[in-house]
Amino acid sequence: MTLQNQIPTNEIVEFSDVEKAQIDKLLLENPHISGVSIDALKIIQNHRSWVSDACILSLSQYLDLPLSDLESVATFYNLIFRQPVGKVVLHPCDGISCDLMGGEHIRKCLSNKLEINNGQTTKDNQFTLISLPCLGACDKAPVMIANETLFELIQEKNLPLIINNLKEAISK
Ligand code: FES
Repeated sequence: MTLQNQIPTNEIVEFSDVEKAQIDKLLLENPHISGVSIDALKIIQNHRSWVSDACILSLSQYLDLPLSDLESVATFYNLIFRQPVGKVVLHPCDGISCDLMGGEHIRKCLSNKLEINNGQTTKDNQFTLISLPCLGACDKAPVMIANETLFELIQEKNLPLIINNLKEAISK
């Protein structure tokens, strides 16, 4: 069954004027529609924090792109969230360099501190934990990205402060 068949038409999403303006700007700047799909998905995610199936369908119609093409891009790109996430998404690196420098232990400590496993969101919807392969900062291993901030040379003793600072940032 295709995604289109699974989504009732009354769940088609109406994008906001701001979303449409940003997507239209992308379309103006890019001669090939297929080149805008990932950036258009990021726009939707920036406004809604995640990208639902209904959003994918609506965006495919808005861009006049095959639904299967857009679905493939959204599935392949692991920074497009396909289910609701917390206010902060923690991406500890699970690449080999980070693991050699204690990354696996750091991921375990994060799981224990937040009481969630990889891929899960805390009950208060503050944090989601999604490990990612090499983040391109191996010389600063172990590393983690949290809402676009890169944390380098992470040590277990720093985790409480990192988590508390992130909590404070989202409570402002
Ligand atoms: S393996 Fe973690 S940044 Fe490269």
